[in-house]
Amino acid sequence: MTDPRPLIVRALSNETLERPPVWFMRQAGRYLPEYRALRSERTFLEMCHNPEVAAEVTLQPLRRYPFDAGIIFSDILLPLESMGADLDYVPGTGPVIRNPVRTAADVAALKDFDPVRDLPAPMEAIRLCRAATDTPILGFAGAPFTMACYMIEGQGSRNWPETKRIMFGQPAVFQALLDRIADAVGDHLQAQIDAGAVGVQLFDTWAGALSPDDFRRWALPASRRALARASGAPRLFFTKDSAPFLPWLKEVEADAYALDWRVDIGAARSVLGDVPVQGNLDPSALHAPPEEIRRRVRKIIERAGPKGHVFNLGHGITPDIAPEAVAAAVDEVTRWTWR
Ligand code: CP3
Repeated sequence: MTDPRPLIVRALSNETLERPPVWFMRQAGRYLPEYRALRSERTFLEMCHNPEVAAEVTLQPLRRYPFDAGIIFSDILLPLESMGADLDYVPGTGPVIRNPVRTAADVAALKDFDPVRDLPAPMEAIRLCRAATDTPILGFAGAPFTMACYMIEGQGSRNWPETKRIMFGQPAVFQALLDRIADAVGDHLQAQIDAGAVGVQLFDTWAGALSPDDFRRWALPASRRALARASGAPRLFFTKDSAPFLPWLKEVEADAYALDWRVDIGAARSVLGDVPVQGNLDPSALHAPPEEIRRRVRKIIERAGPKGHVFNLGHGITPDIAPEAVAAAVDEVTRWTWR
């Protein structure tokens, strides 16, 4: 008899499977012409706050590819808007916060975040997707350190100098900010689980900008605090440039770990131990010819092994990727069989 539970749920329960389930970070987005068509009529924020549009964009990649999960269309920075950030997405620049947080008074002035009251769209979109498809839907949030980076810097940065100035120079202010964000994003994860998400992923994209000591001092406990507020579905933790942190990663107490492409997934497993892992094709490998994409997909599956592996990229799909390249990668995963 075949097990009725979705592959993604079984992989995140650390089961041994015939093939890994597959989904891709940023699978809904600008590389898809149908996304660009919807986007040309509205701003990105309008799309995120409209549950019907958010659900439609979530479903777009599921119509094209046999993904084993959808990830709800939204953005990690939206809770910051509810907390008082003047947030905008500027073409060519990316996210911009026009009133960055720099002082203890700025942190104290942040508003409390109640996800159901302040940001209902993602939860409503999860409900709409669940009514429209049997494909499991994942929720997500940004990790406190990564969110604090944008909150303090006011926009993306290579080295996050203002963030580090406050982290090193005003540690109590930085800690207060991390605590506020941790509780907000933890509640946001729980609300998405309550709405029907089969799993949730916490994105600590910029924690790789920290030394291992500072990762353990700041980013790790803040993410643990956020994840501890959510239960009832598997919680994934993603960091980019995570290789130096692998020996301590499990202290974040997630249920599964999403790895970027700079680490060998087999080697990472031997450090992490017997926990589910997700990853980790280099997103730029989607520029390779189809046969090379397929070869790299097989290599990752082989190295990860049949137990508790979710196939994914090591970071999000970029807008310059051809939809056919995604098709080749997904097809190669779904063809795989361990027996
Ligand atoms: O994965 C998915 O398909 C679900 C939706 C999703 C988006 N962003 C949609 C989006 C998710 C999970 C994110 C996460 C996110 N957002 C992260 C963490 C993961 C990562 O990619 O590192 C971060 C750091 C952000 C902040 C953010 N939002 C950035 C840096 C950008 C890109 C800015 C740009 O113009 O290149 C965004 C905008 C964004 N988020 C878009 C999408 C589809 C593009 C918006 C548009 O259409 O203009």
